[in-house]
Amino acid sequence: MLQLSSVTKRFGHRVVLHAVSLEVAAGEYVAVVGESGVGKSTLLNIVAGLEPPDAGEVSFRNAKLTAMDDDARTLLRREKFGFVFQAFHVLPHLTVQQNVGLPLLLRGLDTDQIQVKSKKLIAAVGLAGRESSMPRELSGGELQRVAIARALVGEPKLVLADEPTGNLDQENARQVLALLRDQVKAHGAAGILVTHSEAAAATCDRRYRLTSAGLAPL
Ligand SMILES: Nc1ncnc2c1ncn2[C@@H]1O[C@H](COP(=O)(O)OP(=O)(O)OP(=O)(O)O)[C@@H](O)[C@H]1O
Ligand SMILES: [Mg+2]
Repeated sequence: MLQLSSVTKRFGHRVVLHAVSLEVAAGEYVAVVGESGVGKSTLLNIVAGLEPPDAGEVSFRNAKLTAMDDDARTLLRREKFGFVFQAFHVLPHLTVQQNVGLPLLLRGLDTDQIQVKSKKLIAAVGLAGRESSMPRELSGGELQRVAIARALVGEPKLVLADEPTGNLDQENARQVLALLRDQVKAHGAAGILVTHSEAAAATCDRRYRLTSAGLAPL
């Protein structure tokens, strides 16, 4: 489903990713751990087609992201990918419900469908009743859960989650980890979870450590 072959990324003279290869099948959920600054978020950005690699290729369902033009990549991301960003990227001037429903709005769903689906996801991350809240009224952990709801609302076929439980207590972390895993398993998606938490990595099928030498199975 997802294939990375010899992906290399440099920032200036620094090689951050060195010939990273990885395959994730449909319904497979993979954890990536590694020290701060080693390149985990960079790797997810490249997988999502948000940043180009300097060398190597990324393919999703046998289509090369690296060979697509920007419009095709944007469309694919919008239709098929769900990304939980490390920094949330919740839009400050939209309500919780508008933030969560945004991927569906971009796909052109009608208002009723967007409302039903986004309310369902908001409840699933434990934020029922906060639909009309503005992001500035939310805690860090609540914002993180908005970001998770938004990533999953469109039932993505590729789930990318960057430290999605960093701001959550144990019970909320357990819940969102179960949601992420469900999305992968119930919809035959490919999933990559970046985390510093052993408990989070344990919810995945395979675990890898990213170091400056590359990606090694744990
Ligand atoms: N746009 C950029 N320009 C220059 N350097 C960058 C850029 N983005 C990331 N880096 C550098 O690349 C390295 C990898 O960054 P990245 O964010 O991928 O690390 P990470 O593994 O996600 O770390 P953390 O666990 O702290 O989130 C870091 O040293 C960072 O400073
Ligand atoms: Mg990071």
